[in-house]
Amino acid sequence: DGSHLHHSAVGCAERKMVQNEHVPNCTTKKGALMSESEKVDILLLGAGGREHALLRKLAESPRAGKLWAAPGNGGILAEATLAEGLDQDDPVAVADFATAHGIGLVVIGPEAPLVEGLGDAVRAAGIACFGPNGDAAQMEGSKLFAKQVMECAGVPTACYQSFTKAAPAEAYVRELGGPCVVKADGLAAGKGVIVAQTTEQALAGVRECFSGTFGEAGKTIVVEEMLKGPECSLLALTDGKTVLPLASAQDHKRALEGDLGPNTGGMGVYSPVPFVTPEEHEAMVDIERRVVAQLAADGITYSGCLYGGFMLTKDGPKVLEFNARFGDPEAQVVLPRMDCDLVDVFLRCDNGTLDGARVRWEDDFAVSVVLTSAGYPGRYEKGKVVTGIEDAERLPGVTVYHAGTKLVGGELVTSGGRVLNVTAVADTFQGAREQAYKAAELIDFEGKTLRHDIGARALRGREAWEV
Ligand code: AMP
Ligand code: GLY
Repeated sequence: DGSHLHHSAVGCAERKMVQNEHVPNCTTKKGALMSESEKVDILLLGAGGREHALLRKLAESPRAGKLWAAPGNGGILAEATLAEGLDQDDPVAVADFATAHGIGLVVIGPEAPLVEGLGDAVRAAGIACFGPNGDAAQMEGSKLFAKQVMECAGVPTACYQSFTKAAPAEAYVRELGGPCVVKADGLAAGKGVIVAQTTEQALAGVRECFSGTFGEAGKTIVVEEMLKGPECSLLALTDGKTVLPLASAQDHKRALEGDLGPNTGGMGVYSPVPFVTPEEHEAMVDIERRVVAQLAADGITYSGCLYGGFMLTKDGPKVLEFNARFGDPEAQVVLPRMDCDLVDVFLRCDNGTLDGARVRWEDDFAVSVVLTSAGYPGRYEKGKVVTGIEDAERLPGVTVYHAGTKLVGGELVTSGGRVLNVTAVADTFQGAREQAYKAAELIDFEGKTLRHDIGARALRGREAWEV
């Protein structure tokens, strides 16, 4: 029956017909025609630590012209001009603003505008854009779509079935018996995944999705097998043909030390993941290449950052999810380690010449510690004065990226749960860790909260993940 969309029922050919209705990226336009020395004015969309890290790296480029940002934060808007009143969720307004202000590159940080087709609108205005079009962003916008692409590409991922009604979903949960994972198909601000240890929890998860908690996003669900092992992210840049893998990274999602407590947007992160073997790294890169090639074969050009979330299982890396953008806080440890002209690289992603990009990796390590407001991810207070950032950034290798801050009358105050990302880069993992914590000590605001064990488990090696 139609309520039980078993994955194998939807074949690759069938998908292809649907997807070919979308217009693929135009791959030869402005970016390709700009001379390599020409300065480019840039509009950066987003408000978090990821976007501040993007801004800092873009600003290093000899090709960076005027930098615009919206909605930004206290750090971003100290270094870029606010595109006043611009709504990143309004594709027409963004395209109009970019046209009116002679912007040569629009960089989209978060997923929601990408899934809504902001990339399409900017490209339709003849302006280069970093971030995939709406069809390609479905890799994040629909878990079922991503599963189908993976299946066609022959990429290892958890076994699954998808459903639009509770009864067959519950039957599948019982069939799996025990731990499994229930996922709302669409975007749910990181909350649509229920990792269930028991059948009871999974059944509750199914009910929650279909009760409308996640709105439209939960009308279709994916139920999948639980995978075991350490998690690892691998981000890659691509123009739809060439796949340029970036470094591996791992974040700490739980609020409390020992990876306990509620899920958060990330309490800390490091790069590279020290215990990933060369074989595992190559397997993750191969998966990303196959997915981009599969999309291309289906008439979809994926242009931008493809974020692969992997479980390093005993049978090799398997995909947990794909995101259509840089990770936050992964960007805050991956970007500072990249030696490249990021404006050039982003333009190449857009215009299909990524094979000519020059990116070098330092043989170093980055660790980033997140400073949060007391109470996060629950209720917390805002408006606390932040001090000590300049002192922290004076330490060698340290950069402080702003996430939840704002400038009020020239004074920097907290404005979110995750306030700052304190990143340190050093020759050794241990060195980066020590320096990040030293820098974090120098910063102060009322209620400052942090985990003291970021990277500690990784230092103990892979055995620390064995149960
Ligand atoms: P997702 O948004 O799909 O990555 O899910 C968010 C988090 O849920 C992941 O980072 C994992 O920690 C966990 N997760 C998702 N899928 C699975 C799975 N099949 N097995 C175990 N954990 C999972
Ligand atoms: N760090 C997880 C994410 O960006 O989705």
